[in-house]
Amino acid sequence: NKPRILMARAVFPEVIARLGQHFEVETNRSDEPFSKAELARRLQDKVGAFTTGGDRIDDETMAGAPLLKICANMAVGYNNFDVPAMTARRVLGTNTPDVLTETTADFGFALLMATARRMAESEHFLRAGKWNRWSYDMFAGSDVHGSTLGILGMGRIGQGIARRGAHGFGMNVIYHNRSRLTPDLEAQCKARYVTKDELLATADHLVLVLPYSASSHHAIGAAELAKMKPTATLVNIARGGIVDDAALAAALRARTIAAAGLDVFEGEPKVHPDLLTVPNVVLTPHIASATVPTRLAMANLAADNLIGFLVHGKPLNPLNPEVLN
Ligand code: GLV
Ligand code: GLV
Repeated sequence: NKPRILMARAVFPEVIARLGQHFEVETNRSDEPFSKAELARRLQDKVGAFTTGGDRIDDETMAGAPLLKICANMAVGYNNFDVPAMTARRVLGTNTPDVLTETTADFGFALLMATARRMAESEHFLRAGKWNRWSYDMFAGSDVHGSTLGILGMGRIGQGIARRGAHGFGMNVIYHNRSRLTPDLEAQCKARYVTKDELLATADHLVLVLPYSASSHHAIGAAELAKMKPTATLVNIARGGIVDDAALAAALRARTIAAAGLDVFEGEPKVHPDLLTVPNVVLTPHIASATVPTRLAMANLAADNLIGFLVHGKPLNPLNPEVLN
């Protein structure tokens, strides 16, 4: 009898087939995420779960699942996990770092450029049939090359964005992070460490790439937005909740900052209604890691964590390794 696992979403037939070689796999047959109650019910007789960012694992979901040993998240972020509750129940959590770093950094840069150069706004204008003459200031935006790139959160993805900016676009890169990079990494990224206040006040383009936690909740709110230049752009590819979306919509409407590019939202897939009506924002539905090869690599890495731990006793990306002892 193979151990029983749950796939909270059915991702990639080849990954389901791989897992099927080791486990009895129950998959979500629908395109919708399970409700919380449904997830809890289906976990009752499982030893492992393959989860995505929309699947909340907390004390309630685990309460009726005495056999559960591991939840493997197909994402680098894991704010859908209540890690202390998992540790208390001796459930291992794993994530998928590294395999999505460059793809996600590409997207951060794409969103930065689309925002600075007003690509979404101008496309809407063209599609609406409003393009009937030339004007000197039509969709004039701000320059990316040679400008100051600010990065808040300097993990692997932040460093990828810094390298693109410094080496590809001749940008002056500044960053703020809980801890400073080593001098070696700072040199590779050509990035200078500054205080958060200096970052806010000097960045022409500010990119957010920090993990969500209680301490990063509304790290960018009305007070922080007020410190930014009126010509600045803000890009969020980190997590909803790091930005106060209502305050951001107000700043965009009042043009106290020039524009924003957002891939993540508070309470997604809902989007704050004011963000849907301001023109100077580029909106994408949480797709920064979405290329075919990277999504496959993420799914395979989550599967590797399940197989590594449940079959060989060795997970690759443990988030709470203390449960292994
Ligand atoms: C996506 O947001 C991820 O955390 O991988
Ligand atoms: C976060 O873990 C990152 O890779 O930037």
